Amino acid sequence: MKKEIVYNPQISIADNASFNQVSVASILKYIKDNNIDRRRDEMFRRYLLVKKIKKENKNISIRDIKKKTGLSYNTVVKYLNFDEENFKLKENKISGFDMSNSKNLVKTVSSSVSEILRGIALLYNNGNSFECDLTFSKGLFYKNLDPPKFKYDKYPLSENVKPLDEILETDSSDLFNSVVIDLPFLVKDEKSAITSIISRRFTSFRSVQELYTANDSMLQLAYRLLVCRGILVIRTMDINYNSKQYWISDYVCNKALETGFELLDKFILVSKSKLLSPSGFAQHCARKWHSYFFVFKKNNHR
Ligand SMILES: C[S@@+](CC[C@H](N)C(=O)[O-])C[C@H]1O[C@@H](n2cnc3c(N)ncnc32)[C@H](O)[C@@H]1O
Repeated sequence: MKKEIVYNPQISIADNASFNQVSVASILKYIKDNNIDRRRDEMFRRYLLVKKIKKENKNISIRDIKKKTGLSYNTVVKYLNFDEENFKLKENKISGFDMSNSKNLVKTVSSSVSEILRGIALLYNNGNSFECDLTFSKGLFYKNLDPPKFKYDKYPLSENVKPLDEILETDSSDLFNSVVIDLPFLVKDEKSAITSIISRRFTSFRSVQELYTANDSMLQLAYRLLVCRGILVIRTMDINYNSKQYWISDYVCNKALETGFELLDKFILVSKSKLLSPSGFAQHCARKWHSYFFVFKKNNHR
């Protein structure tokens, strides 16, 4: 299947290639196929950087902006006096910054985990890969992305993944800029857990209460481990168990706010397929065909 490229005009071509896990040639082809005026966008990117630095520190000198950006003195002066009108596009070309082009947009809905995680990284993590995953498992999230440097799991499946207990038993805090959590969302009693394919692979909870408690403690842990303004990405899903609806996603959201997080965004991962029940079962509510990726920011006050 052709890989959907999420192009970021704010980073270099090489960084776009690494971010999308494709070759530089694929990014150049994307730019060409989409008629993107890369030269103009590159100048525009530098202009935005100069303006941002100036906005954040009104008293900063031109020399200090020059040092921070690596641009020449004259270019800094020029950009400080420019406005957006100065950046004309070549005829028949578009800008990668053009948000009226749906291809350039990070969207709330996707059927690809990679696309959602890339979008989150782009919007909320300066285009960087995530630093720590507390439920790494097999790392399927990172099939098309750089994996986090710090990998943990309650039941590690390989040597490069550390046991979660290791970090639970310390009182370290403020370690990571970004944390990812993806807890199981299945509830299976002992007997069905033994026979269920998914619950054997990723493990499941024996009761809904156990699921809630695990979410509580992982939110607390993420809060402790994140630096102030650090980003938490948590995947969650509502469930139907024993013919009862449990709105787990609402619970996770409220609990995160209570813990001291601020909700920045919500993404919906639409399932491509699902294991189906044998025929003959009557349907009483809509089959859950999606999960959520919530993006939270740690605030410095509770
Ligand atoms: C759905 S899997 C994560 C899959 C992973 N995102 C990937 O890309 O492969 C859920 C993980 O949560 C871990 N887990 C199960 N129960 C847990 C608990 N109570 N607290 C923390 N982690 C738990 C499991 O070991 C499992 O690896």
